[in-house]
Amino acid sequence: MSAAVWDKHKIFEKHSLLLLVGILIMVAIGGLVEIAPLFYIKSTIETVDGARPYTPLELAGRDIYVREGCYLCHSQMIRPIRDEVERYGHFSLAAESQYDHPFQWGSKRTGPDLARVGGKYSDEWHKAHMIDPRSVVPTSIMPGYPFLAERPLDHGRITGQLSANRTVGTPYSDDQIFWARRDVYAQAEPDSADAAAFQKRYPTALIRDFDGDQKRLTEMDALIAYLQMLGTTVDFKQYDDKANLR
Ligand code: HEC
Repeated sequence: MSAAVWDKHKIFEKHSLLLLVGILIMVAIGGLVEIAPLFYIKSTIETVDGARPYTPLELAGRDIYVREGCYLCHSQMIRPIRDEVERYGHFSLAAESQYDHPFQWGSKRTGPDLARVGGKYSDEWHKAHMIDPRSVVPTSIMPGYPFLAERPLDHGRITGQLSANRTVGTPYSDDQIFWARRDVYAQAEPDSADAAAFQKRYPTALIRDFDGDQKRLTEMDALIAYLQMLGTTVDFKQYDDKANLR
C-alpha cells in the first residue's frame, strides 16, 4: 500500500470514535444491499400448487405437537443437501410452512426430520408408536405419549384459532371458520352426514378414524391427522428439481 493511503487509514486507527462511525457506515450499506430488495419483490414465498391451510383437526393436532414439545427432538425442514434429500425426500419449500404460525422448522434432531412423514406409516403404526415407541422401534429413545389416546380432544377454541390464523394471513374462508367445530369431528368420521360437506371445504384432506377408536374424538386423532398430512400437499413430480443437486 502506498504511504499516502496508509496515512489516511491511520486516522481511523488512532481515533476509535471515527472507526466506529466508519464501521456503522459500512454495515449500513451492507444491510441496505441485503434488505432493500425484499421490499421491492412481491413475495419471498414462491406460489406452489397444492399447499393448503390445515383443517381444524390437523390444526388441533399441530397444537398438541407444540404443547408436547415434539419440536425439541424433531425438525420439519429438509435442507437442500444430497444426503437429506435421499433420506427424507424433496427439500422443503417455503410455501410448505407458509400456514405455520409459528413455523416448526426446529434446530435439533434427536429424532428424524418429520417434514415428509405423512403417508410413510399407517395410522396404526403411529398410534402404537405414540403409546409406546419401543413396541415398534425397539431401540427408540423417544418418550411414550399413551395419554393422548385417552384424552378427549378439547376443541372449544377451534373457531377462534382459525380466525386468529386468518388474522395473520392464513386464507380461511368464512365458511371454514363457521363450520370449524363440526369439521373437527367430520374429518374423523367418514360415515357421518357432515363428511361430504367437510370434503368440499378441504378437497385434498384425508377423512378417516385416525386412532381407530370410533366412539371418541381423542388427542391421538388430531395428532395423527396432523402427522399424516405433513409434506403431502405438494405434488413434487411437477417440481422435480432434485437433478440440480447432483
Ligand atoms: C426425546 C426426544 C423425542 C421427543 C420429545 C419426541 N420424539 Fe419422536 N422420535 C425420537 C427418536 C429418537 C425417534 C427415532 C426412533 C423411533 O422411531 O422411535 C423418533 C421418531 C418419531 C417418528 C417416526 C419418524 C420416522 O420417520 O421414522 C415420529 C412420527 C415421531 N417421532 C413423532 C413424535 C411426536 C409427534 C412427538 C411429540 C408428541 C415426538 N415424536 C417427540 C425422539 C423424540
